[in-house]
Amino acid sequence: MTESAPGGRPGDAVLDEVFGDRRDRAERYVELLAEEGITWGLIGPREADRLWQRHVLNSAAVESLIGEGCSVLDVGSGAGLPGIPLALARPDLQITLLEPLQRRVEFLELAVGTLQLDDQVRVHRGRAEDYPAEGGEPADVVTNRAVAPLPRLLNWCWPLVAPGGEVLAIKGAGAAAEVTKATKALRSMKLAAEVLVARAHPQAESTTVVRVRRSS
Ligand SMILES: C[S@@+](CC[C@H](N)C(=O)[O-])C[C@H]1O[C@@H](n2cnc3c(N)ncnc32)[C@H](O)[C@@H]1O
Repeated sequence: MTESAPGGRPGDAVLDEVFGDRRDRAERYVELLAEEGITWGLIGPREADRLWQRHVLNSAAVESLIGEGCSVLDVGSGAGLPGIPLALARPDLQITLLEPLQRRVEFLELAVGTLQLDDQVRVHRGRAEDYPAEGGEPADVVTNRAVAPLPRLLNWCWPLVAPGGEVLAIKGAGAAAEVTKATKALRSMKLAAEVLVARAHPQAESTTVVRVRRSS
């Protein structure tokens, strides 16, 4: 992808296709990541030049794997990744951002308010394993990025998936090896995992996603 501007911003045509009339809000989100995100210690300073590609488009790519009108729970959302780019790209989704750390929750609340996503995105402070006891509702899709290795992740996340739903875990290049390593854990939970490649746009870099469903 061509990197032309601060944060590796792609061209207007790419942003229009991914975010439609919410392009301005996606730009504002990148500003928040580059300013408060870095000064509050949520994003490393070296990420400033690759916010679009490595974080925002990498996260938005999962939208192509999610059905119309689904509820989404983003576990360990951090600075809102992938939940906020997903919300910006897909106004039809209802999204909850679950995050235990207070400073991150404050950033998420700032972002949701600034981006006028209050009707679509809810922020819940807490840990995945405590969420059901705190009255959290299961979701059609549970997303996460860089939160934990698969067996631990699934122990936390599978109880949060509604019947017929799935987990979408954004992983790096080692995704296939991680799935192989988790074979025993998957089998004992009666789950099946597949490695998928998604892109927010044909010109964007690919995102590797592990999709986990109930095995048939
Ligand atoms: C490496 S960060 C990734 C943040 C974000 N998903 C991203 O891709 O930039 C991991 C996040 O998981 C959160 N986390 C850790 N343990 C958790 C738990 N038990 N339940 C929910 N979130 C958790 C951390 O607070 C942190 O924000």
